Amino acid sequence: MFDPSALTEVTLRNRIAISPVTQYSCSPDGVVTDWHLAHLGAGAMGGAGLVRVEQLAVSPEGRMTPGGAALWNDDQAEALARVTRFLKARCPASSSAIPAAKAAFTSCGMATPSSRPTTRRAGSPSPPSASPLVAASRAPRGHDAGFVWLEIRYAQGFLGASFLSPIADGRVDEHGGTAENRARFLVAAFRAVRAAWPERLLLIVRMGAIDFHSDTHTVQDSIALVEALAVRGLDRVDISLGMNINAAEVPWTECGFMVPTASRIQRETGMPVAVSWNLGAPVAADRLIRDEGAGLLMVGRPALANPP
Ligand SMILES: Cc1cc2nc3c(=O)[nH]c(=O)nc-3n(C[C@H](O)[C@H](O)[C@H](O)COP(=O)(O)O)c2cc1C
Repeated sequence: MFDPSALTEVTLRNRIAISPVTQYSCSPDGVVTDWHLAHLGAGAMGGAGLVRVEQLAVSPEGRMTPGGAALWNDDQAEALARVTRFLKARCPASSSAIPAAKAAFTSCGMATPSSRPTTRRAGSPSPPSASPLVAASRAPRGHDAGFVWLEIRYAQGFLGASFLSPIADGRVDEHGGTAENRARFLVAAFRAVRAAWPERLLLIVRMGAIDFHSDTHTVQDSIALVEALAVRGLDRVDISLGMNINAAEVPWTECGFMVPTASRIQRETGMPVAVSWNLGAPVAADRLIRDEGAGLLMVGRPALANPP
């Protein structure tokens, strides 16, 4: 857990990452505040290898709450740059250890591919054509704001996760039906963002790899998607849940319950993974790296309850 981890030109000082946790503490127009500097700065000062910023809405209609962070204008980018400057200044003497910051792009927070009642987020059906371009057009702002790790969120009930699940995606056009069709939007968005994001910097996908429900997409569908993104420049996949179905039977209390899925995806695709959700005490978490092949450990709620 404390060994460095090399990620292209960035080397993390250890395998512990502060997982993105929305703070609901931005100004009404999505500008991060001193709260974020203190919250994220604590992670960097506490020694985490990677500090990840909460999801950033890339358009006004993509915002989840008025207190959530955003990145589509200069004010938002400048406030984020102040945070990333602080994070980088807190890296230890070793030049190879850089606490990196992460931006998650959520192109249409509350939109869904269809308005099926089984989905967790009932919203209006989304026209998928414009969203990849919106996400891509904001990528350079992420660079200006000082991020070295950019993450597209295809997980946890957001738009990308909903496309992947046949139960949330009821479309009858080229974006619905087969696994390839359901992945089409995700591949298009990824390609657009990759083209706009510097090649030397990391582009990650946080994937809702499974839903813990037999009616939805399979791990095999997720593996196929990782393979499709790998040939298009994916650097790492962060394995999370789809959260598409209210009836999902998620083993919330089981320590490291996403780790077997993450290990399988890493084994079958060769793509390095990150994993989160209830990773347990440090010794148990360390075992997830040694025995299960987990690459980066994302710590969310424990870092809130007991700040580093
Ligand atoms: C209040 C709250 C806000 C969150 N906000 C985000 C977010 O902005 N982006 C994201 O990708 N995940 C978000 N998550 C998920 C966390 O990053 C993390 O994956 C999850 O809490 C599981 O890890 P843990 O068991 O260590 O808390 C959030 C979780 C919580 C509890």
